[in-house]
Amino acid sequence: MKIFLDTANLDSIKKFNDMGLLDGITTNPSLMSKEGGNPKSVMGEITQIIQGDVSLEVVSTEYSGMMEEGKRLCEYGDNVVVKVPMTPDGLKACKSFSLDGIPVNVTLIFSANQALLAAKAGAKYVSPFIGRLDDIGQDGMRLIQDIRQIFNNYPEFKTQILVASIRHPVHVVDAAKIGADVVTLPPAVLEKMLQHPLTKIGLENFLADWEKFKEGNPDVSI
Ligand code: G3P
Repeated sequence: MKIFLDTANLDSIKKFNDMGLLDGITTNPSLMSKEGGNPKSVMGEITQIIQGDVSLEVVSTEYSGMMEEGKRLCEYGDNVVVKVPMTPDGLKACKSFSLDGIPVNVTLIFSANQALLAAKAGAKYVSPFIGRLDDIGQDGMRLIQDIRQIFNNYPEFKTQILVASIRHPVHVVDAAKIGADVVTLPPAVLEKMLQHPLTKIGLENFLADWEKFKEGNPDVSI
């Protein structure tokens, strides 16, 4: 399963990329606005830092605007994936970009039918938002199961399931068990995945024992 970071924060991107954890990045207008600054330089830097796919989202809602913006976004790098919303114009743009060989991520997917239609329109990725479904009392992970089953039934769909709106590490384990292709994680969730209290305690004990050993044997080293 690929891991993307769901952020436009350059420090977080550099930090986790240096650990070799990142296969790509997803951004959206909310994440871009949260970071402030000049979106053009932020997008330019992200596509330089990251080798893998970087989803950059259009803000137009009609077809011709999406096409213009998508083409401009592609100039940030060869690894740009144009992100479009799950709307009729978004699907039309998805089809046009895909025919031109430009990869597309269709976002704001909340049903299996929407995922099916985005795949038909040629999307490289569909982004189902599981946390927002959980928020309204629906089962976000059930949607991932349904989409996985549908795509497995029809191998001619090459569309990858990119699980978005992930809120905690259990979502990640569940998505991996189902066989999602990608999870996109807020930095805080990826940070939590790294941590375990027994790892921390175990390391403290190792180091304390080593210090005691050195007290009686000042010349030892590794
Ligand atoms: O990638 C989509 C994601 O940014 C939405 O997350 O937590 O706002 O539902 P959230």
